Amino acid sequence: MLKIAIVGATGLVGQTFLQVLEEKEIQADYTLFASSKSKGKIINFMNKDYEVQELTKEINFNSYDYALFSAGSEIAKEYAPLFAKNGAVVIDNSSAFRMDKSVPLIVPEINFEDAQNNLGIIANPNCSTIQAVLPLKAIDEKYKLKRVIYSTYQAVSGAGKRGIDDLLLDNANKFPYHIKNNVIPHIDTFDESGYTKEELKMINETRKILKHPNLSITATCARVPVLNSHAESINVETEYPFRIEDLKHYLNNFEGIIVTDETKNNIYPLNTIANGTDNVYVGRIRRDYSVENGINFWCVADNIRKGAASNAVQILEKLIQKRT
Ligand SMILES: NC(=O)c1ccc[n+]([C@@H]2O[C@H](COP(=O)([O-])OP(=O)(O)OC[C@H]3O[C@@H](n4cnc5c(N)ncnc54)[C@H](OP(=O)(O)O)[C@@H]3O)[C@@H](O)[C@H]2O)c1
Repeated sequence: MLKIAIVGATGLVGQTFLQVLEEKEIQADYTLFASSKSKGKIINFMNKDYEVQELTKEINFNSYDYALFSAGSEIAKEYAPLFAKNGAVVIDNSSAFRMDKSVPLIVPEINFEDAQNNLGIIANPNCSTIQAVLPLKAIDEKYKLKRVIYSTYQAVSGAGKRGIDDLLLDNANKFPYHIKNNVIPHIDTFDESGYTKEELKMINETRKILKHPNLSITATCARVPVLNSHAESINVETEYPFRIEDLKHYLNNFEGIIVTDETKNNIYPLNTIANGTDNVYVGRIRRDYSVENGINFWCVADNIRKGAASNAVQILEKLIQKRT
């Protein structure tokens, strides 16, 4: 039987790993790891009680086929290579390895074939990147991307359990200001250029996944007082002309995307529609008349599921299928 380690099993993404693995009925011999704080905690998963193990250098790294990581960059840098060196394929949710040239950065609907070339570590992209690149790939295939402008409206769950607590308890522990009644144009740290790391992640990861190293692209990322699911306004310029009806049809036929766009009936993507699903909802699709071939659209997805856990489990599922 396959042996799978879940690292960060007690966190928001980790708990969702378990939920998605259970939904997909991926049978394996699982070991759940977290910090010393959670050592001994019992988690019921697939009708079995698991005792959470503390992740330390003393564990036996030798016995895993796969390891799903969601414990942040520092833990990933320290431990993912130890699992990989001992024969496991690690799928990591942090930003630790995403821009490493030797590490595939995978959204299964777009570039699963690249995952086959892994050297033991596969990176899951940033949550806001994953949902954006699906419609962008659909547009690129047909009309060739020329320029992209991202404006994001990101839920507090994107910052883990402490982000949710800040909204529910009206604290400012995780975020620099009270998120209640505010939109905070600041996710992750600023660099000297004035961009945040979140914005740079979106820019660089999009180029890598779409294999467009020189794509003109910019981003502004904001945190909004919403519990779950990220919303994004995406403005695109294409090389080739398009008809809006063809574009909608093409987006709707792309794996993973659901076009939700009937403005006369007030139907468009909403966080509450995306919550708990693995779909990327795209709507408000309309022409941007300020340029020759311009498109505006709105895009929403569950950042914990498609933006993190479900994307990683989809990669795992496909790797297991290939292996058998
Ligand atoms: N939330 C999102 O939408 C999202 C989306 C994409 C990617 N990610 C990434 O996924 C990772 C986890 O995010 P999250 O939202 O799930 O955060 P979270 O709710 O804060 O969970 C963090 C997890 O890491 C574990 N951990 C912390 N220190 C550890 C240590 N020393 N050894 C072993 N495990 C340790 C925690 O265990 P304890 O409970 O024992 O502390 C917990 O299980 C981050 O890299 C994040 O950037 C998150």
